[in-house]
Amino acid sequence: MFTNASNFTNDVDLTFAIIIGISLFFLIGLTALMIYFMVRYHHKRNPVAKDIHGHVGLEILWTVVPTILVLVMFYYGWSGYTDMRKVPDDAMKITATGRMWSWTFEYENGKKTDTLVIPIDKPVKLDLLSEDVIHSLYIPAFRVKEDLVPGDTNYMWFIGQQLGTYNILCAEYCGDRHSYMVSKVDVIEQQAFETWYNDTTQATLEGAEAGLALLKQNACMSCHSVDGTTMVGPSFKGLFGRNTEIESNGIVKNITADELYIIKSIEDPAADVVKGFSNIMPAYKDKMTQKELEQMIEYIKTLK
Ligand code: CUA
Repeated sequence: MFTNASNFTNDVDLTFAIIIGISLFFLIGLTALMIYFMVRYHHKRNPVAKDIHGHVGLEILWTVVPTILVLVMFYYGWSGYTDMRKVPDDAMKITATGRMWSWTFEYENGKKTDTLVIPIDKPVKLDLLSEDVIHSLYIPAFRVKEDLVPGDTNYMWFIGQQLGTYNILCAEYCGDRHSYMVSKVDVIEQQAFETWYNDTTQATLEGAEAGLALLKQNACMSCHSVDGTTMVGPSFKGLFGRNTEIESNGIVKNITADELYIIKSIEDPAADVVKGFSNIMPAYKDKMTQKELEQMIEYIKTLK
């Protein structure tokens, strides 16, 4: 009705328009009737109150009409909902993972991104996973929103019908930086998508460059700055070789942030926590290869 960004926009907008229309009709109608009755049946004009007992016609009218109206709303809500749960067989599968406070999208060929890229006019199914708490993937322009529940798998599907870039938001309060848990969906031409999909240069990056790509991919930067700003976690700037006060099992220690310490902090962040911070980072044990760990450290070393 208003836009056509996804295959669901028309249905959802129509449903909302119907519900708002019915609500407005009653809001205005009832208010007007109430004012009319206040004047019409004012005490001055009706000094003696009249007792009214039942009216079968009215009873039927105000039972049947609201029932029909409610069922009309139900019909549009239900049919829209069932369409959203029926994924076409040829849908392209992408795994969307949410964590405090970032999104990762993984394609069937192993390509991973923090921005969702999809071809126009092709059904896309997102398998929704959470690594920590409940998040909610919300694409307002597409009129879709689904929760990501830890320990459970949920899904959503849609077809991007207009080229462009649209916002992805988290719509479930998930902690300090919930409002920063944003991303984009790029709807691009089929051919451009093929090129993008088959471009795996990311895998051929080496050393510090690969490390930076990994830090971005795993959304480390949503909690750790690279410019010295303190966010949820300590900044990466000047981290390597820094003298750091940590708390390990309740004991405060002074250590030098070397390779081993950084690897331990990635794999088991709760073990040695920098003083003044509380740990909320998910553990990356067995999620990173030795090479990846080295590449990330190599990048961190460049942040003097
Ligand atoms: Cu994730 Cu709010």
